[in-house]
Amino acid sequence: MPRLRIQIRDLSKTFREGGREVPAVSRVSLDILDKEFVALVGPSGCGKSTILNMIGGLIAPSAGQMLIDGAPVRDVPRQVGYVFQKDTVFPWRTVTRNIALGLEYRGVTGPEQGRRVGEAIRLAGLAGFEEAFPATLSGGMRQRVALMRTLIVEPEILLMDEPFGALDTHTKLNLHAELLALWEAKHQTVVFVTHDLSEAITLADRIVVLTRRPGRVKMIHEVKLPRPRDVIKLRESDEYAQQYSQIWHVLGEEFAGHAV
Ligand SMILES: Nc1ncnc2c1ncn2[C@@H]1O[C@H](COP(=O)(O)OP(=O)(O)OP(=O)(O)O)[C@@H](O)[C@H]1O
Ligand SMILES: [Mg+2]
Repeated sequence: MPRLRIQIRDLSKTFREGGREVPAVSRVSLDILDKEFVALVGPSGCGKSTILNMIGGLIAPSAGQMLIDGAPVRDVPRQVGYVFQKDTVFPWRTVTRNIALGLEYRGVTGPEQGRRVGEAIRLAGLAGFEEAFPATLSGGMRQRVALMRTLIVEPEILLMDEPFGALDTHTKLNLHAELLALWEAKHQTVVFVTHDLSEAITLADRIVVLTRRPGRVKMIHEVKLPRPRDVIKLRESDEYAQQYSQIWHVLGEEFAGHAV
């Protein structure tokens, strides 16, 4: 029986600013198992990044509990790697120096650092661009750099906030295939935030549909598609279409604004 990795219990977050209160997340409960790939989907502003920030120890809950491996999250948990929503590659650092940053933070230097960065560059298909600066890369390549900077420290829990949101469909599909291959090898526990339902179905074991703000759990859907998944062929299958329409039936209401 896989062990429980992340326990979210009745979690709420209300932001207070200049006398104004913004309830962002309301009474979310969710258990995430070790090695599970979970996607959070919901409309813009429904609290997806806020939930991820609470898992990552970057903001404190207003109420409820957030546990990782049975312990309440206070600081940034050592098990966690985070790929942020905004492009967080540093423009003044080369590809090599950007990827090395994750290791620098953890004090890994010298030949060990060089070996691991070299391996990450190869895995990400960035060979030949070691000394390139981000401004000279495509959006997809920059996201690969950001992803590798996080993966290089081998986090057991990977938090990803719309990492491919700004990319075209073709680049996205390539990155989905690469991410799935990396995940098949290491089986990190992944919490992946997106508005893109196709992306969630392609990648995840379970999809958590959130309501409009304040985000509540509206539905948890198990994605019944075998692995390993072929990201192109998958989309032609009847099973994929079935999953899509089942979830869209519920998620579409939140986008359309019909729900209360
Ligand atoms: N630091 C903050 N201070 C005040 N309000 C905030 C803060 N962070 C988020 N909010 C508010 O909380 C709500 C949820 O924001 P959040 O960024 O979690 O949404 P999201 O689901 O990630 O949206 P998107 O899909 O657009 O990224 C929004 O109304 C936002 O304005
Ligand atoms: Mg967000």
